[in-house]
Amino acid sequence: ESGAEDSVIAYLRGRSEEGWIESSTLAEEIGLDHQVLVDSALKALTAREAILTETITHSSWKLSDEGQNYAENGTPEAQVFDVLASPMTLDQLKEKLGNDSSIGMQQAMKKKWIVLDKGTKTLSRKVDTAVDEVADILKKLAVDSAGQGLAEKDLKVLKSRKLIVHKPYKTYKIKKSDKFDDATTKQATELTREMLESGEWKELSFKSYNFEALGKAPEGGSLHPLLKVREQFRSLFLEMGFEEMPTNNYVESSFWNFDALFQPQQHPARDAHDTFFLSAPELSRVENQEYWNRVQKTHEEGGYGSIGYRYKWSEQEAKKNVLRTHTTAVSSRMLEKLGSTGEFQPKKYFSIDRVFRNETLDATHLAEFHQIEGVIADRNLSLGHLKGILHLFFQKLGMPKLRFKPAHNPYTEPSMEIFSYHEGLNKWVEVGNSGIFRPEMLQPMGLPEDVTVIAWGLSLERPTMILYGISNIRELFGHKVDLEKVKRNPICRLTF
Ligand code: PHE
Repeated sequence: ESGAEDSVIAYLRGRSEEGWIESSTLAEEIGLDHQVLVDSALKALTAREAILTETITHSSWKLSDEGQNYAENGTPEAQVFDVLASPMTLDQLKEKLGNDSSIGMQQAMKKKWIVLDKGTKTLSRKVDTAVDEVADILKKLAVDSAGQGLAEKDLKVLKSRKLIVHKPYKTYKIKKSDKFDDATTKQATELTREMLESGEWKELSFKSYNFEALGKAPEGGSLHPLLKVREQFRSLFLEMGFEEMPTNNYVESSFWNFDALFQPQQHPARDAHDTFFLSAPELSRVENQEYWNRVQKTHEEGGYGSIGYRYKWSEQEAKKNVLRTHTTAVSSRMLEKLGSTGEFQPKKYFSIDRVFRNETLDATHLAEFHQIEGVIADRNLSLGHLKGILHLFFQKLGMPKLRFKPAHNPYTEPSMEIFSYHEGLNKWVEVGNSGIFRPEMLQPMGLPEDVTVIAWGLSLERPTMILYGISNIRELFGHKVDLEKVKRNPICRLTF
């Protein structure tokens, strides 16, 4: 509430009379400029339905510069009449009054104040006294712009002589409305225990609920670009008939992360330099001793056409808890589940979630990132099927040109790195890794001999950075992420 509003409320409240008061009077009473009163109090109070108003339009005349001049010095005709106290020729008059004398002369003749002797060309008074009515009217209007008591036709004449202009203005009749008290007293918004205890509630006026009111716009959260892109990949997998694997465990035993995948215990990836090991709980339990035994046997002496790694496998080593280094740890759990059912069913699985590696942090590496993984288990799948599904998958992501490079993973044979031709960069860039899971991994799980499992993986960060034009991974993930950017960045649409 403005000060002006408060003053008006206080004045109206204190006023003994209940009838109308005019805004100009009110402005004077509370010492406010009329326009300020209207703009900063009356409009708001009307909107609050605290007062009723009626507009009064006032007629008002304003003197033009010429009119002002005549009001002060008399009209030209009066000046001519004055000068003609003694008769004189036209030329003499002109000399006295200057060139403007002609208007005054005409008006004075029209009013029959003076005459012109055509023979001698002499001007002289025709009457003894002349009343300068025009100047009188102008003087009156100068002090009373409404022109009370003045004749309409006289004002018309002055207007046509451009001595005055009509400038009407508005004031308002004001009075308190029925709702004045409610609208101007502070209303309680909530009934409190204190009000009930003290009985204060009886005196209070309560604000009524406004059920039309819009709620306050929530300071909503925003999806991080990684989540947006992840959702697109999920949709793509779901559209292709893949089931999502449960990835809700960041902590995994070395067994599922490495051993089940036929990754030997001396493998460099199992070093603390590359992997985060947990100190509490340091070790996990053996979940299925028979399966563990089969894994141990395969590592130590092989089987299923393999000669194994020929080292002493340590159960203690396999029990060590790690932050999972890849989502393939989840895939190994799922495949073992699939193998243990006894009756094989073809499956298409996918996962997208966080993994952890003990990396040196730089512009392209973080200690945690996200992997996208696809796995297909079916009878008699070949490398051709793997290449086919990769072409389909990446084509849907807008990467139709692919090349494959032989690679090595302990758990896949053959293994292929996936390269895509980047039109913008004009070169082949690595986009993922893939392969056919080894029998040494699948057979101990109980999967039938003719079942092949093809799989591929890629990071979520790489495509997200490309899609959102981010060059430093630390702007995407971690404490340097610009929250404003996260709020403003657009939705992601991969058109597959
Ligand atoms: N797990 C691999 C990695 O971390 C990716 C991969 C998944 C490779 C599936 C082959 C098959 O890079």
